[in-house]
Amino acid sequence: MNYNLSAIVAIDRNGAIGRQGQLLCHLPADMRHFKETTMGHSIVMGRKTFESFPKGALPGRQNIVITRKRDYCPEGVTVVHSIDEALASATMPGEVFVVGGAEIYNATFPVVTTIHLTVIEHEFKDADAYFPRIDLRSWTIVSREEHPADDRNPHPFTFMTLKRKKAATAATGAN
Ligand SMILES: NC(=O)c1ccc[n+]([C@@H]2O[C@H](COP(=O)([O-])OP(=O)(O)OC[C@H]3O[C@@H](n4cnc5c(N)ncnc54)[C@H](OP(=O)(O)O)[C@@H]3O)[C@@H](O)[C@H]2O)c1
Repeated sequence: MNYNLSAIVAIDRNGAIGRQGQLLCHLPADMRHFKETTMGHSIVMGRKTFESFPKGALPGRQNIVITRKRDYCPEGVTVVHSIDEALASATMPGEVFVVGGAEIYNATFPVVTTIHLTVIEHEFKDADAYFPRIDLRSWTIVSREEHPADDRNPHPFTFMTLKRKKAATAATGAN
């Protein structure tokens, strides 16, 4: 692997990420954070997440969209048909970002080494899409920034960066 694979996601207190194909709420500060973090990089997403974008491909980034449909070719997108092909197709420098949704977060979670996590301090009752459970014993919180709700952002939220802890290497007593 010659790239760092990161996930970037906004979850609520229960790990929910979406409902009925859309985000749980509109948080302009998180949109800005997403844009600043991913700009200039390759972003990998499922076909359903891509189709939830109101204006199609996100500018300034390589948009890699995973689908099983063989005749899918929207404008401005690198279309691929498997997770492996998605990761092999990334051409922009630095981190490669998995940007959702639930299916793609689940499939890539074992190989993600960084999570750019926004925790929305709210419980959305009618959510139907979730991020994989994060076991904090396996992750180090390297940054954390709390924000109150304000007139544009309806809920308090926290930006966090998590790095996966290196697996302990087995003791090599005998050889
Ligand atoms: N809170 C956040 O940060 C955040 C971020 C992103 C998305 N979301 C939310 O997540 C929800 C969407 O998640 P989702 O799980 O329903 O959809 P998704 O992961 O965005 O897309 C699923 C689609 O990806 C394709 N796919 C998945 N695995 C594949 C594989 N192994 N090989 C080939 N194609 C594959 C399939 O497309 P085809 O059906 O075309 O074959 C599948 O239907 C929405 O509510 C969205 O708003 C939230």
